[in-house]
Amino acid sequence: MGFNIAIDGPAGAGKSTIAKRVAKELSFIYVDTGAMYRAVALYLIKNGISPEDEAGLLRACGQIHISIEYENGEQQVILNGENVTGQLRNEEVGNMASAAAAKPCVRETLLTLQRDLAVKADVLMDGRDIGTNILPDAQLKIYLTASVETRAGRRFRELQEKGEACTLEAIAKDIEERDRKDMSRETAPLKMAEDAVLVDSSEMDIEEVAARIISLYRERR
Ligand code: CDP
Ligand code: CDP
Repeated sequence: MGFNIAIDGPAGAGKSTIAKRVAKELSFIYVDTGAMYRAVALYLIKNGISPEDEAGLLRACGQIHISIEYENGEQQVILNGENVTGQLRNEEVGNMASAAAAKPCVRETLLTLQRDLAVKADVLMDGRDIGTNILPDAQLKIYLTASVETRAGRRFRELQEKGEACTLEAIAKDIEERDRKDMSRETAPLKMAEDAVLVDSSEMDIEEVAARIISLYRERR
């Protein structure tokens, strides 16, 4: 069995940035579970299915086949045979992912895939319910968070660099709304696992957070 590191936390906390860096440094496989929920969301958008349409969603869950591949160390998401990685990182898909992720049949569809990925190797997985639900026996669990202001500021800079029009207020509102949905849903809500280490990155840069996680890993291995 490999060594499993779980990183959970709210949107914009820095999970994927830090997870990628730590995984590279430790030669772990990085699994971005958010991208899998985003692939489900993309399928629903493309097929005009609302997550509130119970029968439609159930049918969709039976038709969605997701797998993961790695190209030059970067995770690729394959949805029904098509590489959709480049279509996942936008607000429409993010919001649909959050709505779909509240539905048990969607979580059920992804659970086995996520667990199977972690059995094979040393894996660092990030998401919302990795430490609490997907990998409850992970040897290291991190709950990575930061204030709403900090997270919104980071996203704002990211979008500005990409040349996308946005306001800080709108991003902060979106983040708060997503936090509320992710934390209050009945199925696998976002919460800190009892045995997780809390890392608040509001006043920490990427290097400091990565160094902290690597040092926790070295203590435990
Ligand atoms: O990057 P960001 O934190 O905005 O989102 P993400 O990690 O790509 O995840 C998109 C959405 O999928 C989140 O808002 C969650 O609702 C959902 N998700 C989840 O429920 N469980 C996971 N393990 C990963 C993501
Ligand atoms: O995956 P998650 O939604 O948790 O966050 P992310 O996409 O990794 O990070 C959001 C933004 O915050 C990125 O632009 C990171 O470069 C930035 N970031 C930062 O400035 N300082 C940190 N300590 C962590 C992330």
